[in-house]
Amino acid sequence: MDRLRIRGGYPLMGEIPISGAKNAALPLMAAGLLSADGLTLENVPHLADIASMTALLRELGAEINAESVIDGQGETLKIQARRIENIEAPYDIVRKMRASVLVLGPLVARKGEAKVSLPGGCAIGNRPVDLHLMALECMGAHIELESGYIHAFAPKGLKGGRIAFPTVSVGATENAMMAASLAVGETTILNAAREPEILDLAQCLIGMGAVIEGAGTDKIRISGKSQLSHTTHSVVPDRIETGTFAMAAAMTGGDVELVGAKIGHIQSAAAILREAGVTLTETERGCRVTRTTDKLIGVDVMTEPYPGFPTDLQAQFVALMTAATGASMVTETIFENRFMHVPELKRMGANINVHGSSALVRGIDRLKGAPVMATDLRASVSLVLAGLAAEGETIVNRIYHLDRGYDRVEKKLGACGAKIIRERET
Ligand code: UD1
Repeated sequence: MDRLRIRGGYPLMGEIPISGAKNAALPLMAAGLLSADGLTLENVPHLADIASMTALLRELGAEINAESVIDGQGETLKIQARRIENIEAPYDIVRKMRASVLVLGPLVARKGEAKVSLPGGCAIGNRPVDLHLMALECMGAHIELESGYIHAFAPKGLKGGRIAFPTVSVGATENAMMAASLAVGETTILNAAREPEILDLAQCLIGMGAVIEGAGTDKIRISGKSQLSHTTHSVVPDRIETGTFAMAAAMTGGDVELVGAKIGHIQSAAAILREAGVTLTETERGCRVTRTTDKLIGVDVMTEPYPGFPTDLQAQFVALMTAATGASMVTETIFENRFMHVPELKRMGANINVHGSSALVRGIDRLKGAPVMATDLRASVSLVLAGLAAEGETIVNRIYHLDRGYDRVEKKLGACGAKIIRERET
C-alpha cells in the first residue's frame, strides 16, 4: 500500500493543471450504455474510480478503448456498447465504488432490466439509494430488493413521469436524467440537483440526441428518444480539485495559477476563501490564488447542495482553518459522518472540537508533522494539505483513497515546490 511522505513549510509556487472532474466523468461513462453507436469522452482523469467504472462497463459487455494518453491531459475514452450482454453490476465492483449505481438507470432504459448490488454503508455515512429507485418507479419500473441486489425491470420500456425528489440528490438526478433520455414521452424532475456535473451530463445527453431543458436549475424536463446516437464530449474541469489546490496554495502562503479551472463553478467556496484572506482572480487560463493577509482569518461555513459550499471541500476547509487567526465553525449538512479527518488533524496539533454536525476549529500557530491515516477520499487530501503547511515531516498512510479522486497529486504539487514523495509500503 502506498503512502506519501511530505516535508512541510514550502509555499506552493507555479501552476497546476486541473483535470477533468471525476464526478462528471463517472456518470458520463455510464451514459455510454445508452447508445449502441458509442460515446467518445475527452479529458477523462487518470483515477482509480475511472478504472473501476471501466471494469464495470466491460463486465456489462461494453468495449472501451483509452485512445490517447498525453501527460498532463486526460485520456480519451471510446465507449462502445453495441450490445449489452450482461445486466448485472456485481457486489465486488459496487462495494469499491458507490457511483457504480449510476449504471442502474441506463441499463433499465436500454435493456428493460438491471440487477445492481446495493452499495451498502460507506465511511462517510449511510448513503441510501431510495431516491434512485423512486425515480425509476416514477417512470414505470418495478423494483425488488433480493439477496443484496436491486432488481429493476420494465419489460415494456420506461415511460416519462413526474419525479419530485423530497431531498436533493446528485446521483439520483443523474440516474433519472439518463433513464428519461430513452423513456417514451416527457419526464419532469423537480427538486433536481444543480451541480455543474449535472449540466455537463445534460450537454452530453443532448449531444446524443436527447431533448433536455432546465439542467442547472431545480426543474429539468426531458423528452425521451427511442435511440440515442454517437457524440464526442469533453469532461468539465474538476471544481473540487480546483478548490482543494486553491486551499493548498492559501495554506502554504503560495502563489499558484490553476490552469483550466472554472472559478464560476466554485463561487460559494471562493467567497468564503476571500473572507478568510485569500485572493482569487480569474486569469485567461483559469484562476490565480495568493494570500491577501499574513494570517488567514477564521470564517464559519455550512455545506449545502450546489450552489452552496460543497461537502467535498469541507475536510480541506477544516485543515485550512486549523492555521487561521480566531475560530471557525464548520457545519456538515449533507453526510452524517464526515469528520474522520478531525482525529488525524488533532494528531498534528490542531485544536478542533466536534459537536454533532459541527466542528469548532480554533486556529493555532502552526501544525506539526506526524504519521496520519487516510480514511476517505476528501479526508485524505485534507491531511496532505495539513502536511504541506506543517512543521517537519508528515506521512499520510493508506492513500488508495486519494488515488480514487486525485490525478497524480504528488506530481502536480511537487512541480510547485512541495516536498512530497510517494513510497511503497513493504
Ligand atoms: C455525489 C458525489 C459526491 C458528493 C455528493 C454530494 C459523485 C460520483 N459523487 O454523491 O462526491 O459528496 O454528491 O455533493 O458525483 N440520499 C438519500 N437517498 C438516495 C440518495 C442520496 O437519502 O437515494 C442522501 C445521501 O445519503 C446524502 C444526500 O442525499 O445525505 C446527498 O447525496 P447525493 O447527492 O445522492 O450524493 P451522491 O450522488 O452519492
